[in-house]
Formats: sequence, structure tokens, C-alpha cells
Amino acid sequence: MDGISRRSFLGGVGVLGAGAAFPVPTIARGVKDPIAVSSANGVGAVETACTRMAAGADPLVAAVAGVNLVELDPNDMSVGYGGLPNERGVVQLDAAVMHGPTHRGGAVAALEGCKTPSRVALKVLERTDHCLLVGAGARDFADAHGFPREELLTDRARKVWLRWKEGLSDKDDWLSPEESGGKSVELEYGTIHLSARDAGGRLGCVTTTSGLSFKIPGRVGDSPIIGAGLFLDQSAGSAGSTGRGEAVILSAGSASIVDEMRRGATPTDACVEICRRIRTQARRDPTLVNEAGRPNFNVNFYAIGTDGSHGGAALKGPFRYAVCDAEGARLVDGAIA
Ligand code: GLY
Repeated sequence: MDGISRRSFLGGVGVLGAGAAFPVPTIARGVKDPIAVSSANGVGAVETACTRMAAGADPLVAAVAGVNLVELDPNDMSVGYGGLPNERGVVQLDAAVMHGPTHRGGAVAALEGCKTPSRVALKVLERTDHCLLVGAGARDFADAHGFPREELLTDRARKVWLRWKEGLSDKDDWLSPEESGGKSVELEYGTIHLSARDAGGRLGCVTTTSGLSFKIPGRVGDSPIIGAGLFLDQSAGSAGSTGRGEAVILSAGSASIVDEMRRGATPTDACVEICRRIRTQARRDPTLVNEAGRPNFNVNFYAIGTDGSHGGAALKGPFRYAVCDAEGARLVDGAIA
């Protein structure tokens, strides 16, 4: 689509809000209830997404509304406001969205000062001809769209970061947590992914994260990388991930799951297959496996098929994921690959 026709297509408004601006494909499969799946931190998110879809919202708009709950929750230290910062104590957020009916995507990476990076990613999809904006450019874009500059580092997250920083070395003047009576801090890759399918079969998905805790400034994981931390194809299904982003990038994780579903795999079997692939790939790097030859990290995948079936798999258990359908919002067991 060239610039002029694209501009008229967008019509100068938030296209997802406009609804009718989307060409809606004919979807062969029968009408079912809306469904959403997410990582286990998203029980409220999938419920919100399904409630919005039942009220007629576009599946991507509904998915973003769902994850906004988690982004705005200061107690979830893996996403948005309250997320753990980078090694300098600065919170840098990543998010991406994809929309099935138009096969469009938008993403931001290393975005600072915005509690809801998923909304900025949605704006990238709606209001630019690009897929990914990073760092200062992403912040400028958020400014242009009226996102206020906000402090993201909560007191709780600052204290965890400080404990981590104090424990880094016994050769500096910061007393380590043990010396000062505290506990040491593990690195974490928390995130939320949400895939949604409305009653008409239209797909939307979003992944949003504060990324690896205490990361090198500018480190970007899988979450804002379309094809890695999320992917969908209206004719095959939707998938996304949480866990060690580097492994998901190196396996093209979510795109590979959607390809498996395109070839006929169920969502669970597709997620298991890519987990197994990651396990095999990890064995080639001795720093990534334990003495038993198993990955010393975890990756979790979530997927929805075009028929509304769903599944998930992880390298390690226990593994549960959130789902909302006609039976309501709940956690269900996923497969361990
Ligand atoms: N999966 C989140 C990250 O690695 O940043």
C-alpha cells in the first residue's frame, strides 16, 4: 500500500477504534464464543479481553485492554509500571501487537517513561508505516501521541534493584545483601502475552514486558520482536511467549508455532514442538544447559488455533496458563516439553 492510499485507509483516526476501517475477511469456520489465552499472570486480562470482545470490540483492542491491567499493576514486577529496571535502575519497556484481519503489527522497544507500552505499540500499528520504534525515537513518538512522561520505578522495584546492585561484587564499597542481612536477587524474565479470537474468528495478540531484570541498558528480548515474542496469521492461528527471550528470538519461536499450526498441528502440539527445538538448540551452547544436558532456563508458549482451540507448553514445570472462554476465566495446565 503506498503512502497516499495508506493514509486514506487510515483515515486519520485510531483505526481499531473506527472498526469499519478494517476490511473484514470471510472466515470459513463457525462462530464460537470469544476466547483469550495468556501467561498465568493474566487471569484478569483474559477476562477483560473476552468481555470487551463480547461487547463488540476488535480482538486486538480487547487484548490490549486486557494487558493494560497488568501493565498498570505496580505489584507485577515483570511488566509496565513497577517492572524491574535495567542495571542502571532505569525501567525500559518492550511491547508488540499484531492484528489478524489486516496482518499488521506495531512494536516499541526500550521505551522509557510510559506505563502502557502496549498502547504505544498499538499506535505504531495504527499511525505509522513501520513495525518497530526503539529508545528515544519510541519516546518521541509516544510524546507526539500525548502519552505523559511517568515515573515507572516503584519504591519496591527500586529496593529489589538496590539489593541486586549491592550483591554484584565484594570488591566495591556497596555492602552485599548477605553483609547487610538481606537476600540475594535472582534474574527474572517476566512478561505477559495475550492472544485473542473473537466470536467471528478474528485474531489479535499482544506481548508486553519490562524484560530481563537488571539487563544491560538497551537490551531487547523477544517480546517486541514480531515472529519471536508473538506472531499471528489470520489463516493459521496466534501465538506468543514468555521466558528467556534470547532463546525465543533464536528459534523464531512464535512464528514457528504458527507455521506448525498452519501444517495442521494443534496449539499444544505446536508449542511442544518448538520447546523441543529450543532444547536441542540449547545443547549446542554449554552455558545454557545443566549437568544433565537440560536447559538451565525456561520458555513458555501460548497459542490459539483458528477454530478457537488453545494450548500451551513450557520447557519446565509447573506450567499453567490463563484462558477465558464460555466457561469463564481460569488457569489450566499446559504441557511440559
Ligand atoms: N521474554 C521477555 C524477555 O526476555 O525480555
